[in-house]
Amino acid sequence: MYKRLERNAPCWCGSGKKYKSCHAAFDDKIIKYELEGHIVPSRKLLKSEKDIEGIKKSAVINIAVLDEIGDKIKAGMSTEEIDQIVYNTTIKMGGIPADLGYEGFPKSVCTSINDEVCHGIPSDDIILQDGDIINVDCSTILNGYFSDSSRMFCIGNVSPEKKKLVEVTKECVECGLKEVIPWHFIGDMGHAVHQHALDNGYSVVKEIGGHGCGNAFHEEPFVSYVTKPGTEMLMVPGMVFTIEPMVNMGTDEIFIDEENDWTVYTADGKPSAQWEVEVLVTETGYEILSY
Ligand code: MF3
Ligand code: CO
Repeated sequence: MYKRLERNAPCWCGSGKKYKSCHAAFDDKIIKYELEGHIVPSRKLLKSEKDIEGIKKSAVINIAVLDEIGDKIKAGMSTEEIDQIVYNTTIKMGGIPADLGYEGFPKSVCTSINDEVCHGIPSDDIILQDGDIINVDCSTILNGYFSDSSRMFCIGNVSPEKKKLVEVTKECVECGLKEVIPWHFIGDMGHAVHQHALDNGYSVVKEIGGHGCGNAFHEEPFVSYVTKPGTEMLMVPGMVFTIEPMVNMGTDEIFIDEENDWTVYTADGKPSAQWEVEVLVTETGYEILSY
């Protein structure tokens, strides 16, 4: 249960003001939704100005790393080389790749090609081929703050079908962003993402999704794209989460690599695409922190 403070107590946000003249009305609004049966964020999910500044500085590195990959990626390159660029650029800029060692993940970045849905492991043996589509999912830690975003890259001459999948998946994220409105619901956002995928004849992976992010790599809530409007967590100013749908050309069914226990594939072998943004809910809408 979301709890009010004593009215003359110092506000929980650290402003130094009294609670009654700071976040009391804001808290009343959250509690109203909670009493209506909605899921509301705990106070620790609401980022302070200091947190937001920290996440933004972390994201400067994350974005620069993805820009660097965008400049260098090409056919004939191994995914191991991508990993090295991510590691070296991140360290040079003072950050730490968040993926490295995360739950035993062996590399600094996820590289997922064609029918790989996510969590592809960079390797010397995986060489980018003309016509491949690849997701590079990059996450950075700087001074304890986390940024997380991913982009798709088309290698050489990509078929119109795969190109369309890549473009529509990006549009799915944009459709979701339009629904990031304070005091609306994450389910509104997820529904918009899903609908755009369905309208194009695609499916969206259910088991894996976005997440709160910033003071830790993966925070609450789990962000699904298979949701109804008016459901899931209330979007409150100060929340930071990722929108990162995995959109499949064919079935939404997936399986995990038995050998490495990480890489996720489509069950039918058809391509999958993903874009990821990290977004802050503001008083008036949203601000993209990492992309
Ligand atoms: N970056 C992924 C995400 O978007 C998480 C990757 S975890 C790893 O949430 F261990 F596979 F790197
Ligand atoms: Co993420």
